[in-house]
Amino acid sequence: MSDTAKLIVNGETHELPLVVGTENEIAVDISKLRSSSGLITLDPGFKNTGSTKSAVTFLNGEKGILRYRGYPIEQLAEKSDFLEVAYLLVHGELPNEKQMDFFTSNITNHTLIHEDMKRFYEAFPSNAHPMGILSSMISSLSTFYPESQNPNRSVEDIELTIHRLIAKITTLAALSYKSSKGHPYIYPDNSLSYVENFLYMMFAVPSEDYELDPIVVDALNKLLILHADHEQNCSASTVRIVGSSQANLYSSISAGVSALWGPLHGGANQAVIEMLEMIMKDGGDLQKWIDKAKDKNDSFRLMGFGHRVYKNFDPRATIIKKSCDEILEKMGVNDKALEIAKKLEEVALKDEYFVSRGLYPNVDFYSGIIYRAIGIPTEMFTVLFAIGRLPGWIAQWKEMLENGEPIGRPRQVYVGATKRDYVSMDKRS
Ligand code: SDX
Repeated sequence: MSDTAKLIVNGETHELPLVVGTENEIAVDISKLRSSSGLITLDPGFKNTGSTKSAVTFLNGEKGILRYRGYPIEQLAEKSDFLEVAYLLVHGELPNEKQMDFFTSNITNHTLIHEDMKRFYEAFPSNAHPMGILSSMISSLSTFYPESQNPNRSVEDIELTIHRLIAKITTLAALSYKSSKGHPYIYPDNSLSYVENFLYMMFAVPSEDYELDPIVVDALNKLLILHADHEQNCSASTVRIVGSSQANLYSSISAGVSALWGPLHGGANQAVIEMLEMIMKDGGDLQKWIDKAKDKNDSFRLMGFGHRVYKNFDPRATIIKKSCDEILEKMGVNDKALEIAKKLEEVALKDEYFVSRGLYPNVDFYSGIIYRAIGIPTEMFTVLFAIGRLPGWIAQWKEMLENGEPIGRPRQVYVGATKRDYVSMDKRS
């Protein structure tokens, strides 16, 4: 196989090196294209453009493969736990017992937030969306830890910031929920595991015993693992490009939270449930909504369907759909939305429009059913996505830093007005 590609423009041939990854993916390296030919490439949405060489996550959209640091998501979801997967993503290897104890105890002991931060919650409107709160609060962490803003921070400083972020995101999330309900805040309980502690801070009530349901703990642990990373998605790319300016990790993650909030990205899990409820309220005529989703003149899209990369099936959706049945049965929950979702999938996947475009249920299509069954309010669904995705964002940011990647600054093709002279007001039409 040749190790270069030839680009012929106006009779001139430009040779470009080929890059081959460990899974035999081939890319044309255009990093010297402009300096050698004056040419740039154009690719809105970067559908065909690789931004980096990464060792964090491998996914194959055609075959529905997803692996974190080489480990199949199916095995991690079955056998691992979220904090262990977080360690794997951030450090690149599964931890030994000593490493896991160190990681866990550091995170456990950083769950508290500065007492002054609680005043911020009193300033947000009571109906503030928790993703707006989360993005603001994570960014404000940098003001409480100014040493994190030093671009020449040490490995130890970066590791401390990583521990603080993974620890405090659950406290910040639970506080936004309690604040929205006008309920008293629940402080972290360091005797609990990461997932148990989050559920405790979310749902415990002072002076009452809170009993953790192992089914709920297991379901949430699995969901967080399934959301932990997804290579160069919109929010991970946002974290990388913000971090590439040497902005601190808190600011980079805060930007990632904002990108994830969009309904075309992580916000889809909330949009799916709202869509299913709307279809149920409208009488459950599935074909009507399928036809609307297909109609170019209608802005309605089937939320939770379609994916930039997966064009056959999203392996996470397969796992989550199976877990839906198991968890709802174990909990004795009969959620009409699940029945509607299954029927919607069945009808859509018989329709040429969806099949020909490779539109299948993605990670967001069924996850909201489980979140709802375990008591998570709809507005918090994307916050749960952010908690799960945090280790992945951190891993991507850390890799960008360690690889010494340059500041992200794409080029453009200018299509605006060509040179023209200023016209005084009296001469304008
Ligand atoms: C996530 O990138 C990641 O890895 C993301 C993620 C992660 O883990 O980080 O997996 C998480 O964001 C999952 C996706 C959640 N979003 C949704 O469920 C929102 C609904 N889906 C979409 O809007 C859409 O499918 C995207 C945004 C997910 C993907 O869009 P693309 O790749 O840009 O594809 P496209 O918009 O160009 O669509 C291709 C065609 C178009 O029709 P034609 O122009 O070819 O006629 O498919 C159509 C689209 O109109 N289409 C849909 C559709 N999704 C795409 N039509 C109806 N309903 C849909 N959901």
